[in-house]
Amino acid sequence: MKLLVKSMNKKLKIAILFGGRSGEHEVSLASAKSVLGALDTNKYDVVQIGITHDGAWLSGENVLEALTSGNTDKLDKVVFPPDPSQQGIYVIGNAQYELLSDFDVVFPVMHGTFSEDGTMQGLLEMADVAYVGAGVTGAAVGMDKGIFKDVMVANDIPVVEGVMVLRAEIESEINTVISKVESLGYPVFVKPANMGSSVGVSKCDNRSSLSEGLIEAAQYDRRILVERGINAREIEISVLGNDNPEASMPGEVEPSREFYSYESKYVDGTSGLMIPAPISEEMTERMREIAIQTYQAIDCAGMARVDFLLDKNDGKFYLNEVNTIPGFTEISMYPKLWDASGLPYPKLVDRLIELALERKEDRDRTKRRFE
Ligand SMILES: Nc1ncnc2c1ncn2[C@@H]1O[C@H](COP(=O)(O)OP(=O)(O)O)[C@@H](O)[C@H]1O
Ligand SMILES: [Mg+2]
Repeated sequence: MKLLVKSMNKKLKIAILFGGRSGEHEVSLASAKSVLGALDTNKYDVVQIGITHDGAWLSGENVLEALTSGNTDKLDKVVFPPDPSQQGIYVIGNAQYELLSDFDVVFPVMHGTFSEDGTMQGLLEMADVAYVGAGVTGAAVGMDKGIFKDVMVANDIPVVEGVMVLRAEIESEINTVISKVESLGYPVFVKPANMGSSVGVSKCDNRSSLSEGLIEAAQYDRRILVERGINAREIEISVLGNDNPEASMPGEVEPSREFYSYESKYVDGTSGLMIPAPISEEMTERMREIAIQTYQAIDCAGMARVDFLLDKNDGKFYLNEVNTIPGFTEISMYPKLWDASGLPYPKLVDRLIELALERKEDRDRTKRRFE
C-alpha cells in the first residue's frame, strides 16, 4: 500500500476536472462546486482544471468562478500530455512547456460525452494517473444505451424491450424504421444511444410524434434506441467500491413532468426525491443485488448510480441505465443516498479518492511485458 502510506505523510494533490464539451457542462459546474467545497484542505491540495465548451483546458486561480461567469482571460491555457513521464498539466511559456502542477489523483467531475464515456478515461490511462470512477470499458458500456442493454440481457438482468436504429436509416427510410419499432406498441421512448440528462429523449404516443422524436434524437447521436414506454416509478441505487462494491438503500425520483425530462431535472427544480424509496423490503434487497450485479457486469469502479424503472401497472421492474459519473451536488441522489446510508458527503469524496489510489495500485501490478 505504498500510495496510501504516502497519503498519510503528506497532503495528496487532487486535480478536479470540470466543465467539458458535453451538453452537461453546466451540470458539471454545479457538481464540481460541491466537490470543491467538501475537500478537506488539511488533507488535500486542490488543483482546478476547467474544460471549456470548445474543449480548451484552463487552470490557475478560481477556475470554477471564471468558467461559470465566462470570464476566463486570467486563466492559463494548459495541456495534459498522455506521456507518463510528463504527468501533470503544462503551461506553454516562451514556446516551451513548463510544469504548472502535478497531482496524485484526478477526479473528473464531468458528465456525458468526452467525460463519462471512456474517452477521458482513455487519456487518464495513457498518462498512467490514478483517477476516480470507472475505467474505459465500464464508462463506455455504461454510456452506450444499446450495448449496455445487450450486456444486461447476457447477464439475465431484466431490461425493457427496445430496438436500435441508425441515424442513416432514419434519414433515408424513416417509414421502414417506424414500422420496425411500432411493434413495441405506443407509447415508446426514443433516446440517443450516447447522451445523458434526458437530452434528445422523447415520449411518443403516435406515428407523427414518433417521426419527430426520431429526427430529434438523431441530432444527438448516430445510433438511437427506441423502447417500449413503461408507466414507471423511478428507483435509483448508489453503488460504491472496486472489486467488492456496496449498494446503498434505494431512492425514488418523482419527476415534476410527464417523465424525468431535462426540464424536470434542471429547470423546474421541483422534482422530488424520496429516501428511502417506499418499496417492499424484498424488492429493495432484490434491486440492491441487481445493482451490484450490473456494476460488476460492465466492470465499473469507484462509483455509479444504477437506475430502475418500476412498472406501476404490474409491479415488474427493469434495469434502465447506469451513470458512472452521476450528478454530484450535495442535493443529488448519488451522495444523498450515501448520506442516508451513513456516509456523509465529505467522507464519500475521501472514499472515492482512496478507491482511485487502490485501483491504480492494482493496475500497477499488471505485467505489461512478456518476461
Ligand atoms: N422505457 C421507458 N419507459 C418509461 N419512461 C422512460 C423509459 N425510458 C426513459 N424513460 C424516462 O426518460 C428519462 C430519461 O431516460 P434515461 O434512459 O434515464 O436517459 P438519460 O441518460 O438521458 O437519463 C427517464 O428518467 C424516464 O423518466
Ligand atoms: Mg437517466
